[in-house]
Amino acid sequence: MKANEIRAAFLEFFESKKHTIVQSAPMVLKDDPTLMFVNSGMAPFKEFFLGNAQPKNTRLTDTQKCLRVSGKHNDLEEVGYDTYHHTLFEMLGNWSFGDYFKEEAIAWAWELLTEVLKIDKDILYVTVFEGSDDADKLKMDTEAYDIWKKYIAEDRILKGNKDDNFWEMGDQGPCGPCSEIHVDIRTPEEKAAVEGKSLINMDHPQVVEIWNLVFMQYNRKANGSLEGLPNKHIDTGMGFERLCMVLQDVKSNYDTDVFMPIIREIETITNTEYGKAGASGEKVDIAIRVISDHVRAVAFSIADGQLPSNNGAGYVIRRILRRAVRYGFTFLDKKEPFIYRLVNVLASKMGDAFPEIKEQKQLIENVIKEEESSFLRTLDQGLVLLDRMIEGQSASSEIAGAKVFELKDTYGFPEDLTDLILREKGLTYNHKEFEQKLAEQKARGKEASESKSEDWIILLDDAVEEFVGYDSLSANVKLTRYRKVTSKKDGEMFQLVFSLTPFYPEGGGQVGDKGYVESPNGDVIYILDTKKENNVIIHFAKNLPKDVSGLFKAVVDEKQRFRTECNHSATHLLHQGLREILGTHVEQKGSAVHSKYLRFDFSHFSKVTAEELQEVEDFVNARIAGRLAFQENRAVPMEEAIADGAMALFGEKYGDAVRTVRFGQSIELCGGTHVNNTADIWHFKIKSEGAVASGIRRIEAITNDAVKDHFTENAKAFGKVKSLLNNAKKPDEAIEKIQAENNELRKQIEQLLKDKAKNIKGDLKGEVTQVNGVNFLAKELDLDAGGLKDLAFELGGEIDKLFILFGSKADGKALLTCYIDKELAKEKNLNAGTIVRELGKHIQGGGGGQPFFATAGGKNPDGIEKALEAVMNYLQ
Ligand code: ALA
Repeated sequence: MKANEIRAAFLEFFESKKHTIVQSAPMVLKDDPTLMFVNSGMAPFKEFFLGNAQPKNTRLTDTQKCLRVSGKHNDLEEVGYDTYHHTLFEMLGNWSFGDYFKEEAIAWAWELLTEVLKIDKDILYVTVFEGSDDADKLKMDTEAYDIWKKYIAEDRILKGNKDDNFWEMGDQGPCGPCSEIHVDIRTPEEKAAVEGKSLINMDHPQVVEIWNLVFMQYNRKANGSLEGLPNKHIDTGMGFERLCMVLQDVKSNYDTDVFMPIIREIETITNTEYGKAGASGEKVDIAIRVISDHVRAVAFSIADGQLPSNNGAGYVIRRILRRAVRYGFTFLDKKEPFIYRLVNVLASKMGDAFPEIKEQKQLIENVIKEEESSFLRTLDQGLVLLDRMIEGQSASSEIAGAKVFELKDTYGFPEDLTDLILREKGLTYNHKEFEQKLAEQKARGKEASESKSEDWIILLDDAVEEFVGYDSLSANVKLTRYRKVTSKKDGEMFQLVFSLTPFYPEGGGQVGDKGYVESPNGDVIYILDTKKENNVIIHFAKNLPKDVSGLFKAVVDEKQRFRTECNHSATHLLHQGLREILGTHVEQKGSAVHSKYLRFDFSHFSKVTAEELQEVEDFVNARIAGRLAFQENRAVPMEEAIADGAMALFGEKYGDAVRTVRFGQSIELCGGTHVNNTADIWHFKIKSEGAVASGIRRIEAITNDAVKDHFTENAKAFGKVKSLLNNAKKPDEAIEKIQAENNELRKQIEQLLKDKAKNIKGDLKGEVTQVNGVNFLAKELDLDAGGLKDLAFELGGEIDKLFILFGSKADGKALLTCYIDKELAKEKNLNAGTIVRELGKHIQGGGGGQPFFATAGGKNPDGIEKALEAVMNYLQ
């Protein structure tokens, strides 16, 4: 079976068991501070497990793009060295949300593997949770054990500990005991020699877990304790690439048709061969695996809207790509960008299951190529610095760890590359010192960013929070829970949750609302920001109300909200305008909607010209003048909205409530708040346009009050200009006239200075004296540095064996200019650079240059005379 057929077989099987097939959610998460990327199939459904939201169907199935490169599940460093870990992989899953449990989950897993996919039962093993005697005190999962007994011989059911058989998404969140299914695909000889059972969970490349069935029944809380979930759920995850390995009868994931086409392309581009025996071949193999794996992770992240950057999720993506570049650079000898060339294969092989990769192919290629080039430049620069570091280093002495750290920290040159290059030259560096520097830096970073949150104090248990901020800016609310969060950055803060709220939580690029809540006795608490976490709206405050019970009046800062709305609605019009004027390849890549300005990032492959920008601005302003009314639909099925022409933004996933926002022909999926009529925006003005990454442009713009301020300031500045021009009727012409006069005057001055220099030259020729066979001249002159230089070289052209030292002053500073005829400098071993540096002491300064011409500047003009006298010493 081909990979695409295997994927389809899985989904169809669960569809036949009444599951709804859903698309993979994007890997980059919104609204979840505990997780950077989707690291398992269940992550996008976390809210369903916790009971914060309800899915439309209690049974779902999908293949989810997962990325395990940070946090609790991080496989990055393994990738390439073994043949079964990946950064990005597909996790096939079937889900029950409070529907079926262990009995069906096990029965169907078995049916699919052995009857539909016809995997030989004799290569399968299963594991069950044995229980734990730690603080959690969990019992053995005898229920699962008894169910498995119906399908598989008891000697193939193994018991496993918490590490292997109790699954947790992260430090917090839903969790539960699990049963894993393992395969043993070794040869009969290998099996005869070592029993499969003894190799389960022992990192054997051909005895691997393929499917994990998790029986979700707990929630791990922030304080580390477990609480039971209101309902029991099923979360399963099958490694798609591993399943392909089994069904395609090959020995590793990389040998399947998921990876082979990419590997073949790498072989062609780098002129190497994968799987060639031998020690150097092994390095090549590792590099090829690393690159074929990493290009998938990076390409899919970019498709999901996460560009490489300097922080957060973007930084993780940058590091993955750089790891790939490094392996190509070091082991495949590729010194120019090439990884971007693999995107084509990826798009053609995976584009049907994941259309985003096809649709964004060009952007992905551009971004990867640009990143590759820039990191290769860093590597080049690092190599030069490293060479300098190595220079003069004897083989016996060790290079300081601090130097290697600086190379990494300041210049981005990776330490493993340093290590490799040093070792090739028979040198070493102090690893301990390096690690220490690294640890110190990490500790500093952690201290700055760490925040500790206490457990929630629950005041009202069953209150369902409701957002009423689309319709009103104030409401009577009850505090349902709160907690204290401490961080270095913000100090002590409280997070408050209300029964309902008019406060818009940061999202879709729009900032969170500010405002206040007032208790019945007049106690006022300021809300400094509002955010959403796992579907819960959290209000940030510096302190708690004295009395936390009773009805509070919650009031949103109206002015800030209105200005923000002007910018948000303008963003939609801008998006529409850009697509209209530049073309439909324009797609939103990010936005930031603040009260003072808006920022909009979009895909476009060249600079937007001044004329285009003007057209876009006019387009938006025409729609503002057109008084378009705001229209919304708060609950549309996503498919319907898209069919209606709504522009889908990245970040939407199954189960998200979809709202459409419409102003005339502009329709977008959007959860933000907006003006009632585009006329409210008053006016739209673009402030800047530029590149943020290859193929991504950014526009910054302002609306309403900010435009008024902008116009007022401009008018003021213009008024000043006019008054400086004596209220000229046509200021531009007056300025042009002044510029022309200015140019004319400059020319005249240049000519005068030239004439002056000519005169001086004539006089100076008569002052040259003979000292020890040298034509010598030392004099103070009233000329600028350029004039002195010209004069020196002109005299040098006319007089042989000339040695000049000029002194000059300007603005209280001193300058020495030394010229020595080239032949003379060689013959008498004189060096103008050394001379001015030494004479510079007299003028309290320093300088340098070449042996035949050098200058020194200093702050003591009184020393010029001394310097002119002292220069004689060099000739005697
Ligand atoms: N959530 C389980 C895992 O990722 C299925 O292994």
